[in-house]
Amino acid sequence: MEKVDALPQTVAPKERKPRVLVVDDDRVVLKAVGEILRRAGCEVVSIEDGVEGLSAASEPGFAVAMLDIKRPHVTGMDILKEIKSKRPEVEVVMMTAFATVETAVAAVKGGAYDYLTKPFENIDDVVLTVQKAFERKALLDRNRQLEGMLDVRDRFEGLIGQGPKMQAVFRLIEGVAYSSATVLVMGESGTGKELAARALHYKSPRRDKPFVAVNCSALTETLLESELFGHVRGAFTGAVVNKKGLFEAADGGTLFLDEIGDIPPSTQVRLLRALQEGEIKRVGSNDTIKVDVRVIAATNRDLGKLMAENKFREDLYYRLNVIAIHLPPLRERPEDIPLLVHHFLTKYGAKTGKQLSRVEPSAMEALTTHRWSGNVRELENVVERAVVLAQGDLLCAADLPPGFGAGRSAAEVGTATLAHLPYAQAKKLALRAFERRYLSAVLSRCSGNISSAARAAGVDRSNFRRLLKQYEVERDSNGNSLSDEPEDDAAVA
Ligand SMILES: Nc1ncnc2c1ncn2[C@@H]1O[C@H](COP(=O)(O)OP(=O)(O)OP(=O)(O)O)[C@@H](O)[C@H]1O
Ligand SMILES: [Mg+2]
Repeated sequence: MEKVDALPQTVAPKERKPRVLVVDDDRVVLKAVGEILRRAGCEVVSIEDGVEGLSAASEPGFAVAMLDIKRPHVTGMDILKEIKSKRPEVEVVMMTAFATVETAVAAVKGGAYDYLTKPFENIDDVVLTVQKAFERKALLDRNRQLEGMLDVRDRFEGLIGQGPKMQAVFRLIEGVAYSSATVLVMGESGTGKELAARALHYKSPRRDKPFVAVNCSALTETLLESELFGHVRGAFTGAVVNKKGLFEAADGGTLFLDEIGDIPPSTQVRLLRALQEGEIKRVGSNDTIKVDVRVIAATNRDLGKLMAENKFREDLYYRLNVIAIHLPPLRERPEDIPLLVHHFLTKYGAKTGKQLSRVEPSAMEALTTHRWSGNVRELENVVERAVVLAQGDLLCAADLPPGFGAGRSAAEVGTATLAHLPYAQAKKLALRAFERRYLSAVLSRCSGNISSAARAAGVDRSNFRRLLKQYEVERDSNGNSLSDEPEDDAAVA
């Protein structure tokens, strides 16, 4: 065991000794691994007996477990299974004397992080593997913590929002979930109308019955009618059998009519009748069928305008609009952006196997002040893209789409946006916006000459240069970038 003395790495900081569980029926291995890891700064619990190992596996407090795969009675795979079901936060390293591809694959499939082959050729490998398992656990813990930061109040059946506007939406949904009244959800594209409709269904007593969604703009008039109300054989060319419609399919549950503004006039009449009578007729039939369906309709169009143009029936509008839910555009609730960013980081981090846990402040600033005409959907796409591009655990401004935030080069952060932020954050943003605008203006007044601009601003030239860099203000009058020409200053000075 001479190598142990020369052990280079320390697994973890001394102040918080990580606990490692080692289970192996080979006493020599148990002792050696225990020794290696203690020297590397861990607290080690060594167990020889399989049954004891199994019960230790469900105890709290272990960061990593090292398990011998092949052992009599209780196998390492049994213990791995127990750990992953009871303590999924524990990272597991398997140890095997018979390293075959099959055992390795089975272990990894069972949730193990890695495996080591016995006898250990190099002790450093053991420490390194355990160290990597710790690092992985730390990243995953951080993500779990970020997710945990999302207070229960910030989440509502998949809808995220901590600001007063979304909180009001949550309260409204909660309040109307128990009735069967028709609901009209309005909001710009990507504001979460469908998510809100689903939340409403799952909060309602109808939650165990179907939630059926139909996009009214995606179908032709005939198809839409037959889709909604069903048809009988021979009702139209191609109607070769009797068919149930979505109203019937949603019986007892909720029917979500998306893009209701695009529904053709004849279907509007049929729909109105269904809402008024609580019964439908299949296309081509005169028999009425009773249905118990709650209808939620959604649109991003201005129904008032459509009514004025006689494209949408007023009586239908009032039938649908018994309860109205307005989803505010994202730019009116920037306070929700950091929460949403972390939510999507976790979502796409998990999908891509990347463990992003931090966002560069300048990236978060760009994200918070962007106009988001595509609302939450656009934000989701931007974060997904950034997760793919990001290296390491930090989301950087460079991972955002090209030109992102450039729309703010004039650095106009609207007062309306500021009013939604806490004072300190709003002040910081406003100040940055002012400084950037000021620097651009002074620079352009001095035809891009840094020395003159610094003099005009009454700021030391190197400080001025630093500010320009900090705010990424470029000289634009002669098209030269800041970095490639320090000489002209000398000429002027
Ligand atoms: N408050 C929110 N919290 C979490 N995710 C959200 C929120 N709002 C929207 N999303 C997500 O944004 C995307 C768009 O949401 P959704 O489809 O509900 O929008 P929409 O208003 O129906 O848009 P469109 O009018 O274009 O159909 C979805 O992936 C959804 O999960
Ligand atoms: Mg939608």
